Amino acid sequence: MNGPPIDALSDLPGVGAWQWVPGPGRATLLVAAPTPSIAERTNPRADQPFADEVRSASAAGDAAVAGAKLSDFPQLTRLLDDVALLTMARVLHRARLFHDGARHDTGQVLDALGTAPRHAWIVRRWLNTLVAEDRLQYDPRTGRYHDLVAPDRVRYARARRELDEARRGLGYPPSMTRFFLATAERLPALLRDEAGVQELLFPDGCTDTAEGNYRDNLPSRWANHAAAAMIASGTRGKRGPLRILEVGAGVGATTRAVLDALVDTEVDYLFTDVSRFFLASARTLLDDRPGLRVALFDVNLPPAGPNFTPGSRDVILAANVLHNARHIGRALAALRELLGPGGLLVLVESCREHYQALTSMYLLMSPSADEERWFTDLRAGQDRVFLTAAEWADQLDAAGFDPLPVLPAKGHQLADAGQRVIVGRVRSDTRRPDPALVAATLAARLPPADRPERVHAVDRIISASFIATMGEPR
Ligand SMILES: C[S@@+](CC[C@H](N)C(=O)[O-])C[C@H]1O[C@@H](n2cnc3c(N)ncnc32)[C@H](O)[C@@H]1O
Repeated sequence: MNGPPIDALSDLPGVGAWQWVPGPGRATLLVAAPTPSIAERTNPRADQPFADEVRSASAAGDAAVAGAKLSDFPQLTRLLDDVALLTMARVLHRARLFHDGARHDTGQVLDALGTAPRHAWIVRRWLNTLVAEDRLQYDPRTGRYHDLVAPDRVRYARARRELDEARRGLGYPPSMTRFFLATAERLPALLRDEAGVQELLFPDGCTDTAEGNYRDNLPSRWANHAAAAMIASGTRGKRGPLRILEVGAGVGATTRAVLDALVDTEVDYLFTDVSRFFLASARTLLDDRPGLRVALFDVNLPPAGPNFTPGSRDVILAANVLHNARHIGRALAALRELLGPGGLLVLVESCREHYQALTSMYLLMSPSADEERWFTDLRAGQDRVFLTAAEWADQLDAAGFDPLPVLPAKGHQLADAGQRVIVGRVRSDTRRPDPALVAATLAARLPPADRPERVHAVDRIISASFIATMGEPR
């Protein structure tokens, strides 16, 4: 079936609005009550009880970067951006594009580079970015680009040296310079899918470069320690083992900070990732800490099995992973169901565009070659992966979390660095439809193949894309 069964979705019990979210298997149905009044909906001072936790998280972040010269940060970040801009221009120039006043449209650029369809969004982003930075001109009348400012050999060699200077100042290990240079050199092959970034990020299975990217640099160090302190203080006094689910735990950069902050706490820590590669190394990485278990988990599939029962977690941590969800609203609704009353959702997310990522890490975020559609939420058709801090807060609110203030707070020297800690606490004072009742009603109306795989209750439906169909009672 292609579209949602519109007639069957009318007059569902307790449902005022719904959203039909397609794929990857059968669809998911999100349902919300008829618009709740503000007074009954939410605790208007929801962040107040957490003011101390927010303060202590911020202090832990600051302590983790004590002694670093944060005032240099904007200038070093700009250096990194400049190197990336030169790299993009160099790749286009070496493909003999824009020579001798030539003008090309996007299709011609993609063809000349031999870009694999799944990476086309990255090249489109390069073109827009170069235009925004005045290093390429665009003629809206003809839809063609022209007059690329390409770096000469001397300028590019200087940029490579500056890259290492910026890398050091931002707290990345030397392997990061090697990684950025290796991806820059191989970009034509990477865009054609004749090589993969994974081999460069994990040479011979080694995780040093990835650890530098998610643990050692200053913004990550700040965010990981702030997230850890938030979990420790936000759950203080809780009885029994603290039940934590970590999603996309990868090289454990945040895990380690969290376990250190909980050194005196009994934990039931489920370390998960979509890839087995990370599960194998997790135990060694984390010194076989008692209470630690590992499991596969994909944020794009419905949670299933004994590790993922409703209400079974006190905390869910997802560091630099949730942007991989094809529909953020669906992923948040599924995660919320796994949390008990008052449960905490702690995200670390990049909320700022880094040009350097456009020539390296973004290649890891393209859809897979056989994926029918990419993002089906507010990012659909926009050639972007990341949400802004305000968009995250809105998504958390709609899914049924009281969002806490995003950290580092506005005005902090690391606030513009991109890595933000985004926290929500399960909100329980709202009227929501009963997903089981909705599913039972649909079972009576629809043949099995047409039913949604899951029904999740949310507090609000976010109007979104052209793909995720929405409805309200007629
Ligand atoms: C950017 S890394 C962050 C790693 C980790 N959080 C850390 O700080 O070390 C993203 C991680 O998310 C995992 N990942 C990617 N897509 C995922 C998905 N759909 N579901 C769960 N994990 C996913 C990757 O395998 C990788 O380990």
